Amino acid sequence: MSEYILETRNLSYKYQDGTKALNNINVKIEKGKKVSFVGVNGSGKSTVFLNFNGILKPTKGSVIYKGNEVKYNQKSLLELRKNIGIVFQDPENQLFSASVYQEVSFGAMNLKLSETEVRRRVDAALMDVGMYEYKDKAVHFLSYGQKKRVAIADILVMNPEIIVFDEPTSSLDPKHSKQIVKIFDDLNQKGITVILSTHDVELAYAWSDYIIVLKDGEIAREGTPQEIFSDDKLIHECYLEKPFILEVFEKLRSSGKIDSSSAVPRNKQELFEIINSKGEINNC
Ligand SMILES: Nc1ncnc2c1ncn2[C@@H]1O[C@H](COP(=O)(O)OP(=O)(O)O)[C@@H](O)[C@H]1O
Ligand SMILES: [Mg+2]
Repeated sequence: MSEYILETRNLSYKYQDGTKALNNINVKIEKGKKVSFVGVNGSGKSTVFLNFNGILKPTKGSVIYKGNEVKYNQKSLLELRKNIGIVFQDPENQLFSASVYQEVSFGAMNLKLSETEVRRRVDAALMDVGMYEYKDKAVHFLSYGQKKRVAIADILVMNPEIIVFDEPTSSLDPKHSKQIVKIFDDLNQKGITVILSTHDVELAYAWSDYIIVLKDGEIAREGTPQEIFSDDKLIHECYLEKPFILEVFEKLRSSGKIDSSSAVPRNKQELFEIINSKGEINNC
């Protein structure tokens, strides 16, 4: 049994119009991890995700879920989609029912569960995303951030092992981005493997256990957030930016203002602690 919950082997994908979107992608995702796919528009993030849960079928290569190669028949696709849920970038493309409750119950009803179990799952999913009190409200009248959370509940109700979020914080303000990231962390605490794509280097750096950088449909590099964002050549070639926290840290370190042995900070709090532990920094 593989220690990886999800893998791709030599995955290539060509769209019908001839666009070669992915070329030989080999990824191995560990169970229970927080993984980010980073790369500019058009680098292939969404196409990888659509291959993950069988919405697209690889032109070449394969997708492996829990050690088994995905088969593209109805039975295995249903099983796959129950276990790997995708939350699309735009909730408008995902939501279609009248009320929040109807929307979220739809997926669970398709699983042929009892009415009591459907209700239990819908209530739990809505509570997990902080939308329980809106359950009788019309989806149509919700704000963008609320729709996004309902779209997440849509997936949670299936009890997936992996949730894939395509650009989850794009178009959200900082407050609602934080709210969504908190939901990811809560889900991850429950053992769900969380995979996301993002342009937001600050989020990828602070949040991820592991990062995969895509460029022109290929993997440019993968590694820990520190490995990825300390690689200036990679950042330049993949049109990324260095996360602000890391940039400040590297500047302070290279000018000798902090100990060269300080652990690399992942968030503001950790950076402030390093700065505060060094009295003379206050003079700079
Ligand atoms: N439905 C489609 N038909 C043809 N080409 C597409 C389609 N969707 C995406 N592409 C192309 O595939 C490549 C990868 O796109 P995509 O996976 O959407 O990248 P990302 O999510 O990183 O922005 C791009 O060149 C894009 O133009
Ligand atoms: Mg995309």
